[in-house]
Amino acid sequence: MTNQVPYSDAQAAELYNVLNAWGPSDDFYLSLVMAAPSVLDVGCGTGMMLHRARALGHQGRLLGIDPDAAALDVARRRDDVEWVEGTAASMHWRQEFHQAVMMSHAFQCLVSDDDIQASLTAIRAALVDGGRFTFETRNPRVRSWERWNPDHPTDVTDADGRQLRIIHQVESVEGDAVTFTETTSELGGPALRTDRTILRFLDLDTLSDFLTDAGFVIEGQSGGWFGEPLEPASREMIITARAA
Ligand SMILES: C[S@@+](CC[C@H](N)C(=O)[O-])C[C@H]1O[C@@H](n2cnc3c(N)ncnc32)[C@H](O)[C@@H]1O
Repeated sequence: MTNQVPYSDAQAAELYNVLNAWGPSDDFYLSLVMAAPSVLDVGCGTGMMLHRARALGHQGRLLGIDPDAAALDVARRRDDVEWVEGTAASMHWRQEFHQAVMMSHAFQCLVSDDDIQASLTAIRAALVDGGRFTFETRNPRVRSWERWNPDHPTDVTDADGRQLRIIHQVESVEGDAVTFTETTSELGGPALRTDRTILRFLDLDTLSDFLTDAGFVIEGQSGGWFGEPLEPASREMIITARAA
């Protein structure tokens, strides 16, 4: 992501939690997290999931890793969870976790084949044999990026009471990689910052090949947070992969 001006990374990290209120996807992951003795949250962002798990009495090891220092500053408000600054591919844990998760489409931040391979290999290595990796990625057939344009703004009030408008604009679609900007403005006012992101939209066959090559077996796939079957029109592809 790139940052252009006066809305700071710290403010943007706070805003993330306002924009991403707890929902059905979080309930889905929370049940997995609470059931596992040890959990690795890859791309943990501001740490909402592991905060909630500890608050609800999870007694085991909880570790969140993310390359975004500002998001981790928010996560670190809870010091009874381990927080590490880094990427998925940089991880060097060996057979230490029973469950890994990558939530809120964090998996799609892995763009190049090399990064996907290295990240999945590192996640597999961090899991005990039989451990599980659960994540979701948007179904490319639904082409959700076609709604990422100024006709679909999000208005929000931030933690300081500022009224903001968030708009997205797709810059390019190259193969299965979508580059877009997210601009945060005062409502009716000037832009405060623009972040540019590239997300990869893997199809299920390609995703399956990456997982197999990294030592996973796909154990479950679903098209919704309540166990709906994965169908061509499903918005999400929710995958549970077992460390073989
Ligand atoms: C949409 S946010 C999701 C954050 C969090 N999982 C949640 O549910 O709120 C995607 C996160 O993935 C992180 N990320 C980007 N590239 C990454 C990488 N290579 N390895 C791990 N995390 C990454 C970003 O910094 C960001 O915090």
